[in-house]
Order: sequence, then structure tokens, then C-alpha cells
Amino acid sequence: MTKPVILLLSGPNLNLLGEREPAVYGTETLEDHVVTARNTAERHGFDLQHTQSAAEADLVAAIHGARNRCAGIVINPGAFTHYAWAIHDALAAFDGPVIELHLSNPNGRESWRHTSVISPVATASLVGFGGHGYELAIEGLVRRLAPPASS
Ligand code: DQA
Repeated sequence: MTKPVILLLSGPNLNLLGEREPAVYGTETLEDHVVTARNTAERHGFDLQHTQSAAEADLVAAIHGARNRCAGIVINPGAFTHYAWAIHDALAAFDGPVIELHLSNPNGRESWRHTSVISPVATASLVGFGGHGYELAIEGLVRRLAPPASS
């Protein structure tokens, strides 16, 4: 039987993690975070697919491709968070749960980072946990998809 798929999406500049502003984003690379997310997903019987792009169109296409195919989406949209209404609209057209994820806490940074156009269409937002957020986001998504019998 094929396993359900979780789609992990990464926006612009996240490919530079590890080198980019380590005091803000930590020293782990994006690949490290993908491995964390994949291991967490697999532990719960899910497959994980990952796409990183600096092009809004690529992320919109990936979200469209997840419709009727993926169980849920975890997205760190990078700076697209703050103005990319096309990503907002694409996520609004996705049926499953969506977790918005940020390594830093944008609400404690420059004022232009305080607005998220993704939050209104996210099931939940997770900010400020650094790399640990990737594990927490997958755990939260899985719990949302398959709640324990007692809850
Ligand atoms: C980020 C926060 C955004 O404001 C920023 O543009 C990023 C990374 C984070 O993970 O903390 O690129 O999404």
C-alpha cells in the first residue's frame, strides 16, 4: 500500500541556511531540516516530499500538484510570507491541513515581518523553534490527520 504524502515547501533564501545569518536562523542546513522532517514523517507512516524555490510560481504549482494527492502541507514561505497573495490563494484551494513554519519568530523582528498573508489560510503557525520546528510541525500535522483514538 502506498503511504500518504506530506509536502514540505521552502521559499526563497532557505537554500542558504547554514551560511545565512546563523545568529538568526541557526547553523543547520536546509537538507538537515528536510532529513528531520522526513524521519519524523516516516516514523508515523508518511512519505515526505520537499520542494525549495525562490520563484513564487514554482510554489504555487507545487501546491496545485498537492491537491487530491498530498495529505497535508508544511510550508516555510521565507519572505513570501509577508506579501505573496498567490501562495495564499493556492493554499486556500488545498483541502488538507497546512502548517505555516518559521525558524525565527517574525513577530519579534522588523515590523514588515509582522504581517503574514499565509496565517489566514493556515491550520496552525509555528514560529521561533529553530530547527526543532520541523519535527514539531510534522508531529502537529500528523496528529491533525490521524488523531489518537482518545482525543
Ligand atoms: C523565515 C522568516 C521570514 O521573515 C524570512 O524572510 C525568511 C525566513 C523564518 O523561517 O524565520 O526567509 O521564514
